[in-house]
Amino acid sequence: MALKVVIIGGGSSYTPEIIEGLLDRYESFPVNEIALVDIEQGKEKLGIIEKLAKRMIAKANKPIALTAGFNRREALKGATFVTSQIRIGGLKAREKDERIPLSHGVLGQETNGAGGVFKALRTIPVLLEIAEDMANICPEAWLINFTNPAGMVTEALLKHGQHKRVVGVCNIPFNMRTGVAEVLGCSVEEVEIEFIGLNHFVFGRRVTVNGEDRTEKVLEKLQDPNNQYSPANIVSEGWSKAFLSAFHMLPNPYHSYYFKGEDMLSKSLKDYKENGTRAEVVQEVEKELFKKYENEALDVKPEELEQRGGAYYSDAACSIMTSIFNNTNDIQTVNTLNNGTISDLPDDAVIEVNALIGSQGPRPLSIGKLPLSVKGIIQLMKNFEELVIEAAVTGNKQLVYQALVINPLVREEQLAETLLNELMEAHKDELPQFY
Ligand code: G6P
Repeated sequence: MALKVVIIGGGSSYTPEIIEGLLDRYESFPVNEIALVDIEQGKEKLGIIEKLAKRMIAKANKPIALTAGFNRREALKGATFVTSQIRIGGLKAREKDERIPLSHGVLGQETNGAGGVFKALRTIPVLLEIAEDMANICPEAWLINFTNPAGMVTEALLKHGQHKRVVGVCNIPFNMRTGVAEVLGCSVEEVEIEFIGLNHFVFGRRVTVNGEDRTEKVLEKLQDPNNQYSPANIVSEGWSKAFLSAFHMLPNPYHSYYFKGEDMLSKSLKDYKENGTRAEVVQEVEKELFKKYENEALDVKPEELEQRGGAYYSDAACSIMTSIFNNTNDIQTVNTLNNGTISDLPDDAVIEVNALIGSQGPRPLSIGKLPLSVKGIIQLMKNFEELVIEAAVTGNKQLVYQALVINPLVREEQLAETLLNELMEAHKDELPQFY
């Protein structure tokens, strides 16, 4: 049986992780064709990744054909799964998303605040084109999206896209589970966390280990600043006893920007002055990674990839593909349509939640009402996301302005106007819907 995986953004530095994930799962997910797709500007990187991926496949001694090219429509022919890991405008665009807000003294972050808004505006139209191609060329295939901002992109696809077989993934829930396993001294497979909320705004409501409730223990352990589960791009300082015991949930590392805003902002501004934006740091990391990848003796994913905040994304994507393919119905955390799972959010909202993953896609496990303590802010964040999505598909600047004003990381009307104008101008070439 043909099993083809198409990787859109195949020249990404993260691709060796997905190749490793596919090779590790070969027995239960016997992929026989992998197509890497990228854009012409990424030619050099794509070539390096193609060779490394081939060496990895040869080392694993698996009968997998791998191709690399720029013709997306051609690559989509016969696809069973498609993954998306693209960055419109590359790291240079991310640099602007981070630098412009920071230069006005507010957080510059690629998926949060003003930077996240503009990343979504650039990305959503391109993903909608990919969905259109999939609807025409491989209507049965599943799109596993981890292009950021993953929650908003997935919602835009499910609301406005022509192809509905879409699942969004993020590495944060996985990081939280591994972090909890570490602090409890058990294996990650034994840990379940009930996740509630939105991408990069998710909380862990209940932790169980082999079915036994360990929430109290984890909350107690998290009071120690050494027990954190942040990805490489966020330096978390941990949470106070007061916060953890009152909210009685596990925050995710991105919550620091909202609930420890002053601290995070001064740290980010200091970092920005000393080392530049995270995008600049990442460009250096990438240079080193690609030097490594070029080495013909390398035939495995190098450990240095873990310096990237997005490590383990592709692993989560591979697990989802494997479960859909085998109709496993095991529990994984995904971004998917709410449809009543959280009664306080619209049915057509995309939420981040645990779901049973089988051949019909994700079936979310019911949550019910949100805890009163976070209901308001989650609804606000969803409202913000809805405005951004609407703006991305209509090209309506007023909606972008509204989104910026209500976003807790911007909030000031004049500041919102300045950021709107500067970011619009800076990203002009990638925002045709507004011009
Ligand atoms: C985290 C987030 C990802 C994001 C990544 C950035 O892990 O969950 O959504 O892509 O960090 O990492 P980077 O190394 O690019 O700063």
